[in-house]
Amino acid sequence: AKTPLVDRFGRQITYLRLSVTDRCDLRCLYCMKAQPDFLPKSELLTLEELGDICDAFIARGVKKIRITGGEPLVRRNVVSLIERLGERLGKGLEEVALTTNATQLDRYAERIASAGVKRVNVSLDTLDADLFSELTRGGRLDRTLAGIAAARLAGLKVKINAVALKGANEAELPDMIRWAHGEGFDLTLIEVMPMGEIGIERADQFLPLTVVREQLESRWTLSDLPDSTGGPSRYVRVEETGGRLGFITPLTENFCAGCNRVRVTCTGQLFMCLGRDGSVDLRKVIREEGAAALQAALDQAMMEKPERHFFDVSEGAGAAVNRDMARTGG
Ligand code: GTP
Ligand code: 5AD
Ligand code: SF4
Repeated sequence: AKTPLVDRFGRQITYLRLSVTDRCDLRCLYCMKAQPDFLPKSELLTLEELGDICDAFIARGVKKIRITGGEPLVRRNVVSLIERLGERLGKGLEEVALTTNATQLDRYAERIASAGVKRVNVSLDTLDADLFSELTRGGRLDRTLAGIAAARLAGLKVKINAVALKGANEAELPDMIRWAHGEGFDLTLIEVMPMGEIGIERADQFLPLTVVREQLESRWTLSDLPDSTGGPSRYVRVEETGGRLGFITPLTENFCAGCNRVRVTCTGQLFMCLGRDGSVDLRKVIREEGAAALQAALDQAMMEKPERHFFDVSEGAGAAVNRDMARTGG
């Protein structure tokens, strides 16, 4: 067997986040600017090439691959890649997961489930149709809800991801938690991260989850749970609802010491850290040197993985990196 991927800080990489497209049918206010400059399609790796990259990671001990975007389901034929990864399950790979806005999940849920996906994380920041439309710049809440319903029907476990936004969904968060737990879904709250210049001051969006947690604790009992997904989320049980609530706190409580993941973009850039600039160009390697050379590139990346990010959302701080979340894959 090949050697595992371990960085200079002793962290083993077992989780790959693969962004299959930077495009999205929504335009969330905190995610991208109003007129995003999407990559020309000619820059993209083919689904076969992305699959080859996944295989290179699986050979080095990656156990979990999460397909992200942009919105992954807007990439034509993406299900064929999911099916290919599904064939690797039980042969090194333990989980294939998906993060989606669910607008098209009603069409794809069954095939995705048949491919071996067990869990989908659905980005949903509000249950108010007007606020949803405002936050997504024109999206329809009923599409996402239809996608969630289809996922459930297909037997997929659903987790809701909500970015906590000051003055926007802030007051609604307890209702969202009650709704999600009533439906049997976990819900994870996320602190907004300064990814890319989006034309909005991050300080006006940022709502620290320390504050949210305190407010929730004034009404509910939150009991810490052990990590179960290998992701950045820290979970509690809400005793009153019986459901699981996650907190992703890149700003108020850095979790980089336990990092087990890297990201590959749809153009084959391997980013070793969400909030830092360094990357390795896997497209160049795969096209000019062939799939065998990928292993050496992964070793090089491990030497370059930074210790941590330094996100700052204070007034005027600007973006940590000049690519938005849709480009990087979250
Ligand atoms: P699970 O497998 O359910 O644990 O999912 P996950 O939390 O790993 O993935 P998901 O796609 O649901 O991501 C939720 C949020 O966590 C997104 O906003 C990601 O950008 C963020 N996130 C994931 N990994 C990292 C990380 O290493 N650093 C930071 N700062 N944020 C991350
Ligand atoms: N900060 C935090 N989360 C973000 N997402 C998109 N942009 C940002 C940002 N700047 C979230 C989406 C989705 C997840 C993959 O990342 O809402 O749930
Ligand atoms: Fe699209 Fe997700 Fe970004 Fe919203 S957060 S614009 S749904 S990629």
